[in-house]
Amino acid sequence: MSDQIEIIVNGSTHSFPLITGSENESAIDISKLRAQTGLITIDPGFKNTGSTKSAITFLDGEKGILRYRGYAIEELAERSSFLEVSYLLIFGKLPSEQEFKVFTKEITNHTLVHEDIKTILDGFPSNAHPMGVLSSLVCSLTAFYPASLDPNRSAEAVNLSILRILAKMPTFAAWAYKNKMGHPVNYPDNRLDYCGNFLKMMFSLPTEDFEVDPVISEALDKLLILHADHEQNCSASTVRIVGSSQASLYASISAGINALWGPLHGGANQAVIEMLENIRKDGGDTQKYLNKAKDKQDPFRLMGFGHRVYKNFDPRAKIIKKAADQVLEKLGIQDPVLDIAKKLEDAALNDPYFIEKKLYPNVDFYSGIIYRAMGIPTEMFTVMFALGRLPGWIAQWKEMRENNEPIGRPRQIYTGKNLRKIDG
Ligand code: CMC
Repeated sequence: MSDQIEIIVNGSTHSFPLITGSENESAIDISKLRAQTGLITIDPGFKNTGSTKSAITFLDGEKGILRYRGYAIEELAERSSFLEVSYLLIFGKLPSEQEFKVFTKEITNHTLVHEDIKTILDGFPSNAHPMGVLSSLVCSLTAFYPASLDPNRSAEAVNLSILRILAKMPTFAAWAYKNKMGHPVNYPDNRLDYCGNFLKMMFSLPTEDFEVDPVISEALDKLLILHADHEQNCSASTVRIVGSSQASLYASISAGINALWGPLHGGANQAVIEMLENIRKDGGDTQKYLNKAKDKQDPFRLMGFGHRVYKNFDPRAKIIKKAADQVLEKLGIQDPVLDIAKKLEDAALNDPYFIEKKLYPNVDFYSGIIYRAMGIPTEMFTVMFALGRLPGWIAQWKEMRENNEPIGRPRQIYTGKNLRKIDG
């Protein structure tokens, strides 16, 4: 293929560079289109628009491939820990033994949060959604570490901001849960690993001893790996675009958390369980809900089904489905909602509507079932997603800064009134 694409506008031919990625995916570089032709492109939802060149995550939606920095998600989920994957995403390589030791130690050193942040937490009513609490607490870090406001400071300063947020996010997530429960918060236990410490802050009570269940801890670690990055999705794009104005890392991540919250993105994991519960309470008639999802007059969608980029299968869903079976078996839990989920999946996968539209279970279809088995309440599911996605957001923000990307500022086609005068 030529390295130029020709576009004919009103009889004049204009050439635009063709860009090819390392996996041979191609794009027309239209950055000079308006200057040369007076035209812009329009693509609501950016369904066909590349916003950046990125070396972090490769995804082939047709083939169901997901790789972080070249490593297959299946291999990482099997062989790595979440902190190793975090290092990989953020710094571009898997850490050596020594590098990992230092990284882990530094994260452990920063798990505690300023005591005044507890005052902020105390201001939230206990019915506050934990996602709102989480994004607020993350943004409050800008006040406690004002030096972090300047993203142009030294690489060491940026690195310190990165370590701090990686270390404090489990504390914030667990505290958002404690606020919901109306319970006193727990402080980090630095003798434990990342997931063990988080589980202890979530579930230990002052009146009882707490031991981390290795089955739960391992399953959580795997879930976090599966959520760690997903290239230019809604929240990652939000993080990049907020950061492109030179807003700080914490402000950008806080914005990403809010973008993740919606039910069409990370909030789907909460919506899936609520949907499955409703079906169960309604007698378990999955076909009725399948019909509702197909009915164009009905706004109901099958939550946890369909994906903007995966049109064959979501590789994360495959791993999670297997993990859900294992966790439930190991913990000896029988969840009626899992049976409904399996029935619904079977019916949808054999239904011409879902086949034709290439709608398959996504990562969120089964993750909620594992979270439930761990004792995590439904409103915390998207917080768990955020905990996993954090290293991806950091990597996307860092890459955007290192590539010196310009401020994100799309154009539009104006469809409002033409110039007019105020009456009278
Ligand atoms: N149930 C029923 N119909 C659906 C569904 C669904 N879950 N998803 C898509 N469709 C239909 C949709 O009505 C449309 O039909 P038509 O062409 O006749 O208008 C067609 O499939 C294409 O859908 P779309 O909304 O144009 O596709 P999209 O790429 O804009 O949306 C999606 C992708 C994930 C927002 C959508 O599939 C959806 O709403 N799924 C349910 C929510 C969900 O599970 N979200 C989690 C995504 S995975 C986690 C993450 O990475 O954020």
